[in-house]
Amino acid sequence: MCSDSIFIYCSLQGTALCDNSETMAIFKLSLSLVLLVLHVVQGNAKSTSAGTQSTSTAESYLLEDLNGYRMSLHLNNFTENSNAACLANEIADQLQNETCKNAFHFSSTPGTKPKVPKFDKFLDNCDINDNNTVDGVILPVCVPRLDPFLVFSNYTKSQYAKYLKDSNYTGVGIGSEDIWMVVILSTNTSTGSFSGAASLIANISMGNYTLALFLGLLLLFR
Ligand SMILES: *[C@@H]1O[C@H](CO)[C@@H](O)[C@H](O)[C@H]1NC(C)=O
Ligand SMILES: *[C@@H]1O[C@H](CO)[C@@H](O)[C@H](O)[C@H]1NC(C)=O
Ligand SMILES: *[C@@H]1O[C@H](CO)[C@@H](O)[C@H](O)[C@H]1NC(C)=O
Ligand SMILES: *[C@@H]1O[C@H](CO)[C@@H](O)[C@H](O)[C@H]1NC(C)=O
Ligand SMILES: *[C@@H]1O[C@H](CO)[C@@H](O)[C@H](O)[C@H]1NC(C)=O
Ligand SMILES: *[C@@H]1O[C@H](CO)[C@@H](O)[C@H](O)[C@H]1NC(C)=O
Repeated sequence: MCSDSIFIYCSLQGTALCDNSETMAIFKLSLSLVLLVLHVVQGNAKSTSAGTQSTSTAESYLLEDLNGYRMSLHLNNFTENSNAACLANEIADQLQNETCKNAFHFSSTPGTKPKVPKFDKFLDNCDINDNNTVDGVILPVCVPRLDPFLVFSNYTKSQYAKYLKDSNYTGVGIGSEDIWMVVILSTNTSTGSFSGAASLIANISMGNYTLALFLGLLLLFR
């Protein structure tokens, strides 16, 4: 009768309540409420990240073209960096209403941040630690209808080309929205990986928050 979770509940209460059917019913009710809340919270988190991960045809063409370009230079293909792709999508969304000719204005070179509104919020949304972006570069272009040939030549025939030719960049994240394409190049060192060393901390505090919520609800339903 005393299942694992009920046993934990009983231990928390410090008394043996497992044979009390009224307490059991209340416990079951509160447990299902907590599970419902958790389900909704997790569902939201998942749909947010899934929404920023969708890949358009223009993005796939560009990835292929960029790797073809790398091969022609005898460099390794870029590996896909999903955090960088998340950030690239957020930036492309943010730029969608900007005038096309300003693309270079929103780029970033190593050691600088792009002049993109809400950039720090996007880092958070994508679970990226600020310190892991320093050596990366963010390269937006805008091209009517995102014509694959024009997009590719905008990267290879502009000030951006030198980054594509640099063997220190090993990863890529690509995002697009409307006429905007954003390429983020990452390194395989901690200063340019776009990884989220800070997300561990965020996850732990999220865990604590969940535990607090759980205990709070239990107390509420005593
Ligand atoms: C590198 O990318 C090109 C173009 O997408 C592809 O044809 C090739 O197979 C890739 N090479 C490796 C080693 O993955
Ligand atoms: C861009 O414009 C559309 C339509 O006016 C609006 O719904 C959207 O919020 C704007 N996006 C940004 C990032 O400003
Ligand atoms: C980032 O680096 C700075 C300086 O080295 C350090 O003070 C800060 O704690 C780091 N932030 C994170 C989130 O790791
Ligand atoms: C890219 O190409 C488009 C049209 O071909 C052009 O208008 C734009 O200025 C170019 N440069 C950048 C950085 O987007
Ligand atoms: C790659 O990074 C190293 C160390 O930061 C640097 O010394 C080197 O010049 C870089 N290589 C290129 C091609 O930029
Ligand atoms: C990082 O990338 C460089 C250049 O492509 C490569 O030589 C090195 O082995 C890579 N290091 C790791 C840890 O993957």
